[in-house]
Amino acid sequence: MTKSFYLTTAIDYVNGQPHLGHAYEKVVSDVIARARRSLGQEVFFLTGLDEHGQKVQQAAQSEGKSPQAYCDALALDWRTFATELQLSNQDFVRTSDPRHKSVVQAILTKLNNEGHFYRSKYRGFYSTRQETFLTEKDRRPDGSFDSIYGEVTELVEENYYFKLRDHQQWLIDYIEHNPDFIAPSYRRNEVLGFLKNNDLEDLCITRPAARLSWGIPLPFDPEYVTYVWFDALANYISVPAAYGDPALRAALPDLKLNEPTGDQRLALWPADLHVIGKDILKFHAVYWPIMLKAIGLSLPKQILVHGWWQKDGEKISKSTGNIIDPLAVIKDWGLDAFRYYVTRELAIGPDGNWTDAGFASRYTAELANGIGNLLNRSLAMLRSYRNKTVPARHDELAHEASKTVEAVRKQLLEPDLQGALQTLFSLITHANQYIDQTAPFKLAKDPAQAQRLDEILYNLMEVCRILAVLIWPFLPSTAEKIFAQLGLLKSPSDFNLAVWGGLPSGHVTNDPAPLFPRRDTLPSPA
Ligand code: ME8
Ligand code: MG
Repeated sequence: MTKSFYLTTAIDYVNGQPHLGHAYEKVVSDVIARARRSLGQEVFFLTGLDEHGQKVQQAAQSEGKSPQAYCDALALDWRTFATELQLSNQDFVRTSDPRHKSVVQAILTKLNNEGHFYRSKYRGFYSTRQETFLTEKDRRPDGSFDSIYGEVTELVEENYYFKLRDHQQWLIDYIEHNPDFIAPSYRRNEVLGFLKNNDLEDLCITRPAARLSWGIPLPFDPEYVTYVWFDALANYISVPAAYGDPALRAALPDLKLNEPTGDQRLALWPADLHVIGKDILKFHAVYWPIMLKAIGLSLPKQILVHGWWQKDGEKISKSTGNIIDPLAVIKDWGLDAFRYYVTRELAIGPDGNWTDAGFASRYTAELANGIGNLLNRSLAMLRSYRNKTVPARHDELAHEASKTVEAVRKQLLEPDLQGALQTLFSLITHANQYIDQTAPFKLAKDPAQAQRLDEILYNLMEVCRILAVLIWPFLPSTAEKIFAQLGLLKSPSDFNLAVWGGLPSGHVTNDPAPLFPRRDTLPSPA
């Protein structure tokens, strides 16, 4: 059993509507998954939902539903969302899945038996909105707490704690010896700074069931449920365990889950890539590695941390109405325009700023006038001058195209998605300039230039074919449309097709149709 490239996203809180930030992270992950597949790797791409916790319990209560029924209804919307984004995920995990619960309980049992937990009383402040305990340090001078914490209540509680203190030094060493473990490097430095300047506090991993029943019961104490973050992080291994992953089965021999049979078994762990947002870095770069070490599993190869989107320079916030509804944008402009804008506008790392004008301007300049116009002009000329028939091979743009292919390959693997788009768009610009400079529409009027016209048309068709392959991970439907218009029956989903000379002379194309119809209006506000 060869190990697949295993890629995960954060699992979104089920309560609340999918927004731009969620869509961005899922599209970025999907592009990486598709790119790897295109490059020949077996990929397992996982996304899903985080369903437990007090917020969900309260919301369900106020709607008069059971938490499970409340989550089941919302999960439908989230699955639709994944489909609308054309995510190519292999599975969709929900933390209320029985398979997930079994794994979390097996982990808790093992760690408890091995002495990683202790019970202790705590008196302090609790923020339900953030599902976290607060300390005196979090108080403002006037004694109040920041509004991001919502309502804060004082409690005295006895809970189970996970001993983190003993793990601080090896984690620092691990991050120092594995420079790619956290990317970009400034996020790695942030984690190292935190670990070197603070004593790790033990992590409270339970909530009393009397206060919160919507959680995974602690297998060794029915008075408690599991803390939602301990539960949520485990999704990354609960799904591999359900597929019979050998590393997981070895680490959790007492797991009560049926082993899948034969070729349904998969080897996934360790994950190759966890894609997450910057706000949940500490959970992934501090708590998660320590959990894995304690369970006896190796660490993921990389945690890739993306930035946060703003709209018009301000925080996206429901209360101020400053939101982007990705589904409304997709309905209005098409999915590929959305996927293009978010991956082209923002590199993976820094924060981004959505503006409707910026979206419209990229649509027009880069999609409609860039790739759309190149394909349209090239096919229209081939139809007018050569009856849609591809002339003999000619290699004028071969060098330029091959250079682009190699650069894009590197950038996809890095992954530098924005860079890959910039690289492949410089080939589009180059090819559009080639048309303007060689002026095939003039040559067509002079029978003595027939040979030169053939050469130019071949180069244009071949550039379009290669571009479809390069752009497929980002804009799968557009790439398919390009291949269809070129009269190619294969799918552009195989990077090996991006080799110059693939179009045979005599091949007959189809008619051109606009890929991105020009628009004069701005999108209606979401
Ligand atoms: O944190 N821009 O769920 P979540 C970019 N359930 N990304 C954003 C964003 C924005 N404006 N807003 C949110 C959770 N995100 C936990 C995760 S993982 C084991 C558990 C990103 O629904 C955010 O950074 O609040 C996170 O990666 C993801 O959306 C889910 O956020
Ligand atoms: Mg959040």
